[in-house]
Amino acid sequence: MVDTAPVNAGVERGVGTTALLVAAARAIETHRPDSLAADVYAEHFVRAAPASAGWPVRPHQVPDGDADPLWGRFARYFGLRTRVLDDFLLNAAHTGGIRQVVLLGAGLDTRAYRLDWPSGCVVFEIDREGVLAFKHQVLGALAAEPKAARTPVATDLRADWAGALTGAGFDPTAPTVWLAEGLLFYLPGAAETHLVTTVDRLSAPGSALAYEVKLEKDLLAYRDSPLYTSTHRQLGIDLIGLFSREPRPDSAGDLTARGWSASVRTPFEFSLLHGRGPLPEPNDALAGNRWVFADKPPS
Ligand SMILES: C[S@@+](CC[C@H](N)C(=O)[O-])C[C@H]1O[C@@H](n2cnc3c(N)ncnc32)[C@H](O)[C@@H]1O
Repeated sequence: MVDTAPVNAGVERGVGTTALLVAAARAIETHRPDSLAADVYAEHFVRAAPASAGWPVRPHQVPDGDADPLWGRFARYFGLRTRVLDDFLLNAAHTGGIRQVVLLGAGLDTRAYRLDWPSGCVVFEIDREGVLAFKHQVLGALAAEPKAARTPVATDLRADWAGALTGAGFDPTAPTVWLAEGLLFYLPGAAETHLVTTVDRLSAPGSALAYEVKLEKDLLAYRDSPLYTSTHRQLGIDLIGLFSREPRPDSAGDLTARGWSASVRTPFEFSLLHGRGPLPEPNDALAGNRWVFADKPPS
């Protein structure tokens, strides 16, 4: 195990633990025979943090397989999400010609290390300092080499984060592809609105954005769902307790009003597209999840 004692506090408490949850799901996905995404670094994060060291990182460590609400269906959801958003980012870079990437609430996302970026790409990773320090330590011990210029930006997305990003070398005159994966549910409504406004302000024509939201009415409606109760019971992570309870803004509407085009999709559409992934079920905590893909028109 990597010695992360001085820095693991960032992922051992509160919303930081959710980054470990997603990492464990990606580790399992990596080793599925029908894997949708491969992340060889994910299991190292899980093993390095005492809070998660005993969690499964291989399919055979999940005795109930896909019937397990947490390490089966929910983990597969994260695997599907990883694949869909990998494809979105790579398409923006290779087809859209974008060379600047910003991962908002990057957590333990290793896309800078594992995706085949075109030359000249820079990847900014925004998260809280403790999460980034833990990530740095684990990847450093593995001597992992990024495949793009990677710049961590330690800041709180509830505050004014644009200064930290531009101070780290972000260029607002170059088109950017932005990603907010598994982030916005944790932010107060005003912080989400500020995030969208800031993304728009910092986005040159030809930029793109993908983000994940939950329909507001579903935040509490499924509090007794197998997905939430198993995550709480097995890991001690109370997702509902970590989510912001504030009214959610209509960010897709805001972007449209600002001249972006936005398409709002359900994850289930992508399960059908890939022939694997979660499908709707009763009392489903995933029912309100939406993945939004937005483009700012080229000038
Ligand atoms: C569920 S994890 C998702 C991480 C990553 N995007 C992924 O999908 O693997 C949520 C991440 O958002 C970060 N986060 C939540 N609130 C934040 C805030 N106010 N400022 C910066 N980061 C925040 C957490 O630290 C955590 O790493």
